[in-house]
Amino acid sequence: MSYWNAFVANLEMHGQGTFFDPRLDNKTKYPVAAKARLGHKHDTDDQISAKLPALQFYQLAMPVPKPPANSFNSETAARGETIFNSKAKCASCHVPPLFTEPGWNLHTAEEIGIDDFQAKRSPDNRYRTAPLHALFDTQKIHKGGFYHDGRFATLPEVINHYDSALKLKLTEQEKNDLIEYLKSI
Ligand code: HEC
Repeated sequence: MSYWNAFVANLEMHGQGTFFDPRLDNKTKYPVAAKARLGHKHDTDDQISAKLPALQFYQLAMPVPKPPANSFNSETAARGETIFNSKAKCASCHVPPLFTEPGWNLHTAEEIGIDDFQAKRSPDNRYRTAPLHALFDTQKIHKGGFYHDGRFATLPEVINHYDSALKLKLTEQEKNDLIEYLKSI
């Protein structure tokens, strides 16, 4: 979050500030940024840096939306939580209660069983482990669906994808339990 706040303020909104990321020096991948030395921005009148801590504090203070009452079955969701943390191995990347990895939360396309088309545009050629909060809302917000490009329209599609890509061999009941759990977090 702190990275993107600085990136957007400096490079997208073109504010006066300081931004450092030597990965943008890669001439083949980022010809424009490398030429303009965007990863080494040092404006004399830095209007941004002093505002970044308060911005991040505000973002962290925003409460996670809670699923509406009766929108999921709590008994089924409780069974789903066990599967999420064990057989389905979801928690190995989506670590509760953050539902992403503390640390460098990036994975190769192969690890999640998809193509690397968009990953190749990023400095580390990887996808970020999406934090799984308020998925009941995610479906409403990104009308396109789940994953960075909305390729999976529904949660059952996401689960079926992991089931085959990671060879999980989940039963229909287990898939259903997992979906109920995802709707509850
Ligand atoms: C190897 C690490 C890894 C494992 C294991 C994993 N995920 Fe993910 N997950 C990711 C990454 C990376 C993304 C982001 C993919 C993208 O944006 O294209 C993601 C995205 C998602 C999303 C989409 C969220 C959104 O807002 O679009 C859901 C839902 C999800 N995972 C659920 C699960 C479930 C359920 C399991 C277990 C069956 C699981 N994941 C196992 C790494 C993992």
